[in-house]
Amino acid sequence: MKKQYLLAPGPTPVPPRVLQAMSMPIIHHRAPAYREVFEEVREGLKYLFQTQQEVLLFAASGTGAMEGAVANLFSPGDKVITVNGGKFGERWGQIANTYGLKVLTIDVPWGQAVEPRQIADLLAANSDIRGVFIQASETSTGVMHPVREIAELVRDREDTIFVVDAVTGTGVFALPMDEWGLDVVVTGSQKALMLPPGLAFAALSEKAWRFNETSTLPRYYFDFAKERKNAIKGQNAYTPAVSLVVGLREVLAMIRAEGLENVFARHERLATATRAGVQAIGLALFAPESPSNAVTAVCAPEGIDGQDVVKTLRTAYGVTIAGGQDQAKGKIFRLAHLGYVDDLDVITGLGALEMALMDLGYDLKERSAVRAAQMILKQK
Ligand SMILES: Cc1ncc(COP(=O)(O)O)c(C=O)c1O
Repeated sequence: MKKQYLLAPGPTPVPPRVLQAMSMPIIHHRAPAYREVFEEVREGLKYLFQTQQEVLLFAASGTGAMEGAVANLFSPGDKVITVNGGKFGERWGQIANTYGLKVLTIDVPWGQAVEPRQIADLLAANSDIRGVFIQASETSTGVMHPVREIAELVRDREDTIFVVDAVTGTGVFALPMDEWGLDVVVTGSQKALMLPPGLAFAALSEKAWRFNETSTLPRYYFDFAKERKNAIKGQNAYTPAVSLVVGLREVLAMIRAEGLENVFARHERLATATRAGVQAIGLALFAPESPSNAVTAVCAPEGIDGQDVVKTLRTAYGVTIAGGQDQAKGKIFRLAHLGYVDDLDVITGLGALEMALMDLGYDLKERSAVRAAQMILKQK
């Protein structure tokens, strides 16, 4: 017998309480029972996003909300800035290009965060920038971008909005939407929201809603204004992913019971322990300067292919982590610590990593990732 451990940056494990709720008989989405669930979910999402705005939900993966953000807020030819420092930054550029926006790209080496100055310079040189797009956490490289600082640059520009992909940021670290002046925040269900894949979320500031009024791009299913109109009446425009919404109610109750600040602190602790663990056995962090608390990207040791680390963990130990993508393929592997994870998940992941590395011929030299992580986790 071999147990399976899911330590990838999405999908992430789903708590038993949530699985149980989702296994109950289906309820009808226009019946009072659903309305009750949905009302609770609407309030819980505002708490999670730290906003007074409506948080819209769609039956889609996170990319659906990303596409919706572009289609609902801009018009063909609008000039926007995207940060190309990983797979998902690239995706903003691809979506914007698909919709005929004029994309100015800031190229950032993978593993590094964008410097706010780079954005400030481009904004200063282009008074007609309509949007700035970023990842709060660039999952492909394990980088956290300076969201708060970039928000400061955009905040006072009436004709520019700041669009944040928080797919592995929401529920991991603080991104107080209203306080920081984030104009659009999108996320997905299968990350820190501890749900199966299938829900996408988007919240818009007042400024972003004004952009929505003048945007001329076509949209149908991902029509934010239509969805908000329905949400205010306690319903969804189309058939929602009822089971996932029922699960979401449980998740939001769990997050509220733990407290958002404690949720963030837990992720920080687990991330710190993971980083200390891998470094203790001589491995280098791929994003040492601005690491995300959602996922730790680790450079594969000299002579070992990162994909072999991933494969050995899965086949020999039943542990699923993620490898590198595109230019980072083979060079890195990624250990996630977001969502329904605790101390012993980190210990399990690091213990299995040590064993897999030994299998691949890596000399641990009596060093221990587990021990280093324990030292962090034992601190109160
Ligand atoms: C930062 C980031 N943005 C966007 C996405 C895309 O989300 P989805 O795969 O749910 O469409 C992901 C998925 O891993 C992500 O990590």
